[in-house]
Amino acid sequence: MSEQTSANVLPPLRIGPLTVDTPVVLAPMAGVTNRAFRRLCREHGAGLYVAEMVTSRALVERTPESLRIIRHDEDERPRSVQVYGVDPATVGAAVRMLVDEDRADHVDLNFGCPVPKVTRKGGGAVLPWKRGLFTAIVTAAVQAAAPRGVPVTVKMRKGIDAEHLTYVEAGLIAQDAGVAAVALHARTAADYYSGTADWDAIATLKEAVTDIPVLGNGDIWSAEDAVEMVRRTGCDGVVVGRGCQGRPWLFADLAAAFHGSPVRVRPGMAQVAATVRRHAELMVEDLEDEARALRELRKHMAWYFKGYVVGGELRAQLGLVDSLARLDELLGLLDLEQPYPGAGAEGQRGRAGSPKRPLLPQGWLDSRELGADFERALREAELSVSGG
Ligand SMILES: Cc1cc2nc3c(=O)[nH]c(=O)nc-3n(C[C@H](O)[C@H](O)[C@H](O)COP(=O)(O)O)c2cc1C
Repeated sequence: MSEQTSANVLPPLRIGPLTVDTPVVLAPMAGVTNRAFRRLCREHGAGLYVAEMVTSRALVERTPESLRIIRHDEDERPRSVQVYGVDPATVGAAVRMLVDEDRADHVDLNFGCPVPKVTRKGGGAVLPWKRGLFTAIVTAAVQAAAPRGVPVTVKMRKGIDAEHLTYVEAGLIAQDAGVAAVALHARTAADYYSGTADWDAIATLKEAVTDIPVLGNGDIWSAEDAVEMVRRTGCDGVVVGRGCQGRPWLFADLAAAFHGSPVRVRPGMAQVAATVRRHAELMVEDLEDEARALRELRKHMAWYFKGYVVGGELRAQLGLVDSLARLDELLGLLDLEQPYPGAGAEGQRGRAGSPKRPLLPQGWLDSRELGADFERALREAELSVSGG
């Protein structure tokens, strides 16, 4: 679609040298946004599709799993990779590897992980609290990527909890360090996935960070939500995670909405079944292991069939599928005439839960600078994260 027809909700998103015509980003999701799922989403819409996060350490060590995570299809452009790391030198080395070996066109840095085993060591969403360390990691990544002109972006949460917010400061640090865009998941680590995302914080960040695009993230379940987030916050683009789980066609809705069209995909059961089959094929192709691919597809079943009448027994069997032949058998038992169920298939899906007081290294909140004691703990933080 060409630039700025009068109906466009936003102009194209510019991330360094990259232009994303439809300002929509598939949020990185570990265990979800692999090569197969990104292809499925790309077949429906337009935007920037970020891979599952990979740890800088695993990349530098070239573990087979990390090299699998960063694989892209031949025709996938831009090739986007998300790196998680806690040590500036290792993050720098990982980004250098990605760009020198021409393995990525965009690198996103993850400062949003709220998982206790990560925050307990000072990593993820609680890391920007140590502003010197945050600055050093971001700077190392930008400097490593710059010689090849690859843009680096930062994805973060609001902070540790309501009393310890870091996002405005982190956004400004990132901007100064040469980051090409910042994305805010408008929750704190303490919020985890509970409640509703605080879109006002996205507006606050947009007011503070004026030289680079600000992307809003959190609780976009429909194209209408995305347009509403832009309207309420002034953000330059949106990042969509759970809303597209089991609904890759949401990217078609988003593209339509951002280009001013009211057309929406409202799939009946036959289309859902065909998409599940396509997803399975792509997973098998990607993993080259049919049993593993189908095992990994199981969690998607509840998402795909949310709101559709399936029947308890068939639903349970779909959640245990172990081969393409079995999948075909089960899909054949669905009522393929069933129309789109409406509201039941919409709204919130995926991870939710209640607030959790973040586990932090002892004394973490006492100072904004990193003491020597914490450095060792932080290195362990990276070792305990999956992602390669
Ligand atoms: C299953 C799952 C895996 C996730 N993995 C990552 C990840 O690897 N990196 C990251 O930055 N965020 C990750 N997130 C957070 C999402 O990128 C996103 O910020 C969050 O889900 C909020 O957006 P949403 O409301 O659109 O889902 C993950 C979320 C989920 C549900």
